[in-house]
Amino acid sequence: MFQNTSSADKSQGFRLKNYLSGPIAASAELSLAGSYIEPFSMSRVLELNPNIREELLNTSMHYPGADGSLVLREAVAARFNIQPSQTILTEGADGAIQSLYRAVLEPGSKVLVQVPGYEPLKATALGLGCEVIDWDCLPENNWIPSLEQLEDNLKSGLDAVVINVPHNPTGWMPSESYCEQLIQLCDQHGTLLIADEIYLGLPSDRPFTPFSTRYEKAVSIGGLSKAFGLPALRVGWLASQNKEVIDKVRLSRTYGNAFISALSEAVALTILRHADHVLGFNSEQRQQGFALMQQFVANNAKHLSWLEPEGGVTGFFKLADGINSSNFARHAVESFKLLLVPSALFDAGENHLRLGFGLASTETALERLQDVFDAQ
Ligand SMILES: Cc1ncc(COP(=O)(O)O)c(C=O)c1O
Repeated sequence: MFQNTSSADKSQGFRLKNYLSGPIAASAELSLAGSYIEPFSMSRVLELNPNIREELLNTSMHYPGADGSLVLREAVAARFNIQPSQTILTEGADGAIQSLYRAVLEPGSKVLVQVPGYEPLKATALGLGCEVIDWDCLPENNWIPSLEQLEDNLKSGLDAVVINVPHNPTGWMPSESYCEQLIQLCDQHGTLLIADEIYLGLPSDRPFTPFSTRYEKAVSIGGLSKAFGLPALRVGWLASQNKEVIDKVRLSRTYGNAFISALSEAVALTILRHADHVLGFNSEQRQQGFALMQQFVANNAKHLSWLEPEGGVTGFFKLADGINSSNFARHAVESFKLLLVPSALFDAGENHLRLGFGLASTETALERLQDVFDAQ
């Protein structure tokens, strides 16, 4: 089990975000810290849709619709085989996490969350006063969160189970039979399943039916930031067949920003109308980065190893005994100007590094990482 260090302490904020937007990151020349595919430029959006310029010029600057425009919700809903009224557009997937947690969790709610994992999925629940139980994803179990542990916790009463698929940082993806068992267990207890599926679609040839399509008490969180490669748009969503949950989210969003930018919506519509093409293209980029990583690991077996990720664009690399990941990451950025993410930022001790392989600069950044290892 990893050491549990996540906290609800507001003075700390989300540590991973602080790290990635703080002075350490700003001092780096190269990075393997990214968790998204090489981003799209507007000129590529124009290639996909030659009318986008006209569409943006004609976009009305009235307040946009509170749940997001109907036409974009239709495009999102089609991906889940549900109705547009069963989706809400949010400011990135983070907007969906914040809105959903505020809507369905309260102080004392019991929530099972994967560890290691994306910090806001756990820390937001802690911040709301929930009782958060670590759902251990261990390398000796191929990062698979244990169904026995799930069952035990469901029996003693859980308000929500949170799963991230494909999983950041490990790239784990569940098999069909795992998904069926997971849903069956949650269904037996009538438990809400929150599925963060922001990396879904990478790779595009790995079919996966979203949890909200399969289970009435599931909510899928997604968006355009990771697999689609447009984090700057800040377009995310949540989708659920469960009317009660969607209504609660809609209400909770009236307390904050219930809108997303109409300009972002226009671009997002183009991307979703060309989703297969975009994800296919991005999957080729992923494959290139993945092959570079495989080669790097083969050449550096004495320094690090990985369980090859099945989805997403990050891997969680085990460092050789005696290397402390926070110290190593500090040395890499201070002496080699290379940004890495140590496992402590995922509540996962000091033996791993999360390395991203989605960006076009992966090859150059790996050459720099080679320099760090060679200088040891
Ligand atoms: C699992 C997971 N969910 C959500 C997000 C946030 O996505 P967005 O940039 O769309 O808010 C991230 C970003 O790293 C993530 O890794």
